[in-house]
Amino acid sequence: MRTDIPQTIYRKDYLPPAYLVETVELGFDLDPARTIVASRLTMTRNPASKQKHIELYGGELELVALRLNGRALTRRDYEINGHLMRIPNAPDEVVLEIETIISPEKNTTLNGLYVSNGNFFTQCEAEGFRNMTWFPDRPDVMARYTVMLRADKQKYPVLLSNGNLVEEGELPDGRHYAKWEDPFKKPSYLFALVAARLVCQEETFRLADGRDVLLQVWVEEGNLDKTDYAMQSLKNSIRWDEERWGLELDLDRFMIVAVGDFNMGAMENKGLNIFNTKFVLANPRVATDIDYAGIEAVVGHEYFHNWTGNRVTCRDWFQLSLKEGLTVFRDQEFSADMIGTDSGRAVTRIDQVRTLRQAQFPEDAGPMSHPVRPDSFVEINNFYTVTVYEKGAEVVRMYQTLLGREGFRKGMDLYFQRHDEQAVTCDDFRAAMADANGRDLAQFERWYSQAGTPVVKAETRYDPVKKSFEITLSQSCPATPGQPKKQPFHIPVAVGLLGAKGNDLPLTVNGKTVGSTTMVLELTKARQTFKFDGVLEEPVPSLLRDFSAPVVLDYAYTDDQLIHLFNHDSDAVNRWEAGQRLAMSRLLRLTKAVSEGGTLVLDETFIEAMRKVLLDESLDAAFREVALLLPSETLIAEQSEVVDPQAIHMARQFMRSAIGRKLQKDLIAQINANQTPGEYSPDAIAAGKRGLKNLCLAYLAAAFLNLDLAERQFDKATNMTDRFSALTSLVHGESSEAERALDTFYKDFEGEALVIDKWFALQASAPRTDVHKVRELMQHKAFNIRNPNRARSLLFSFCNGNPAQFDAPDGSGYAFWTEQVLALDKLNPQVAARLARALDRWRRYMPEQQDRMRSALEQVSASGKLSNDVREVVTKALAN
Ligand code: TRP
Ligand code: ZN
Repeated sequence: MRTDIPQTIYRKDYLPPAYLVETVELGFDLDPARTIVASRLTMTRNPASKQKHIELYGGELELVALRLNGRALTRRDYEINGHLMRIPNAPDEVVLEIETIISPEKNTTLNGLYVSNGNFFTQCEAEGFRNMTWFPDRPDVMARYTVMLRADKQKYPVLLSNGNLVEEGELPDGRHYAKWEDPFKKPSYLFALVAARLVCQEETFRLADGRDVLLQVWVEEGNLDKTDYAMQSLKNSIRWDEERWGLELDLDRFMIVAVGDFNMGAMENKGLNIFNTKFVLANPRVATDIDYAGIEAVVGHEYFHNWTGNRVTCRDWFQLSLKEGLTVFRDQEFSADMIGTDSGRAVTRIDQVRTLRQAQFPEDAGPMSHPVRPDSFVEINNFYTVTVYEKGAEVVRMYQTLLGREGFRKGMDLYFQRHDEQAVTCDDFRAAMADANGRDLAQFERWYSQAGTPVVKAETRYDPVKKSFEITLSQSCPATPGQPKKQPFHIPVAVGLLGAKGNDLPLTVNGKTVGSTTMVLELTKARQTFKFDGVLEEPVPSLLRDFSAPVVLDYAYTDDQLIHLFNHDSDAVNRWEAGQRLAMSRLLRLTKAVSEGGTLVLDETFIEAMRKVLLDESLDAAFREVALLLPSETLIAEQSEVVDPQAIHMARQFMRSAIGRKLQKDLIAQINANQTPGEYSPDAIAAGKRGLKNLCLAYLAAAFLNLDLAERQFDKATNMTDRFSALTSLVHGESSEAERALDTFYKDFEGEALVIDKWFALQASAPRTDVHKVRELMQHKAFNIRNPNRARSLLFSFCNGNPAQFDAPDGSGYAFWTEQVLALDKLNPQVAARLARALDRWRRYMPEQQDRMRSALEQVSASGKLSNDVREVVTKALAN
């Protein structure tokens, strides 16, 4: 068995590039079977480097010509070692001309130049550019690009690349050309081209400085009725970046192109963002409220990269979170500002906390745990993770919490002032924040270098005589691969104190009143005590308000205290959190009871707390929905000593059905009270009502009650949110109408790929769907493993979203996983490696189950022909 990891790259080995590239001229003669790529690079020796040779990277390329300063190079003039070409003893000034031939139609990896539904697209981040031509394909090599595209005019009427269109015209043999020039220096990972039969929605838009820019959203012909929301989101993004950060669009033209085959969400190529159709196409008939929110966030995200990522980029891929963490933070703030209300903001914050706990905390506690700025990797594609993105965004948010909004903005301004058109590091960002505010942020660096989720333990003491309240905070962080011991982090812990009536108590420290009823304590040592004076009654502490740091808070709350917080906390995140704690302690008890064959009971206290929030009309529907949502099975698993997936599922189902039964009347009343008749709007208020109403429907379905309501909603629905929620309730509630509804739904939306993805995903995650059913669905004519959205909708939804079935005790789920990982790896290693991670947490299971999971991992690992992507994941999963 092979367990060695191929070629690890280390951050400490960074060397500046030997040559800088000033200009890049690219020519593409596009043909699906045989595309000719010609490049001319003007390069100069980098004074900051001691190396004397040119280094170029290349994937599977047929090299047909290579000339240096006009002279053809022979095999003796250069060395090729795997994917690295070295040209020794080159002069200081070089013009390098290269011609390669590639076959886009054979490219199933969707990395580099590929064909999707007959059209050409590129994906170059992180290292896809090298699959088209030999190039110093690293982000610290920034150059000015001119691109000539040539293709058949009938088949590919639209030819797009970065920047401005400077020329277009006819060619012999029915071909045509377009020449594009990008006025800004950029790294190769931001290059893009599209050659396709597409149509666009377009509009001119006036920037704050009075300049008019052309905005376009390009899609396939039949989808022009689904581009409005993406266009609106783009305009909102442009405005918001101007208003909140003083950042303007620097181009005359900004394009979004949607493609059905795409490995991730979207890509921020300069002036030519390429998007997964999932994050562009929407109308009420086909898209849910969640889809709309996703489009707004991703359109914003890619647009915001224009400054955080493109104008200022990463020195090397270890710095990925410099652009991703910051840009996720920016898109989070954008989405929150678009809602505008405090309670709306709070719900978006709660959603962020849910994602972090659901996905990032497990990652950080597993074999792939890595710091926000990793020290090493085998395959960079494996490091586009929730840690780099979501924890990275939390790290950026903590600057804002520590420095205040104004201080953070000063730091951002200084960052752009110092580093515009440069490739920089996370340390440069931290230095800008520190210098702009005159703050020492040296210790803060540990958020970048140390992996693992810190635990903050809180202990409190009230002195009724001195009227003082002490909070003692101590921090620790579990060992992670390669990091046995951790140093203390700089942790902002926002706290408030609640009085007996649920009011916020005024805060006094060292005789001075704090201006606000929330105070940020800065925990920098292993253990620290903070004292509040003049506390006239024993308070209930509200700790880690607004989730002020990505940590686990350990405090021995009593149920009474939690109910007090759940009913009154002015901090909505902690109000929600109190409910989650109440639910979690019960879910863990119920799980244990299932495992041990005990009886299952749910106390009235909990039910009444749920009833109270359900009926509290002073709260937005959106908040009531998140407050009533139970922790997921994954989250319960993370909190369990030993994971018993079937017991967890049964415990949670028991709780859901108990809520459905005991609150039946109130749930029905809320369903009636939260109808949204009239024209559909995806705004937060309407979406919140639908969310609450559909959760009520789901609770009833969990108790197998009132399924007629779901049936009627399914038949009458005028939008996808209601239609799909109703379908979900029918399937989960095992309605006799479920099969009919699934068939109708399929027929109604057969031509809508994104809706068919939902159809597969719903079935894959249904409690009754076992591995046999999944195999059957794979035989359906609409299933296609080569399309990542489709593979995710069926295979990932089952392996990650249906634990009780996937972890079936007979190991059938793992055998299936082995097969699918190996099958996908032959086609698309990036997607395969993500599926491979479904077994990350195998060591947390019961011993027999561990054995089955380990042997599945070993079986994949024993396959001789694995990609580096999958090899890295399974090797790390198996390592001690
Ligand atoms: N940079 C992109 C983003 O965050 C995501 C991305 C990275 C990507 N690598 C990719 C997208 C590979 C598609 C394929 O928005
Ligand atoms: Zn991004």
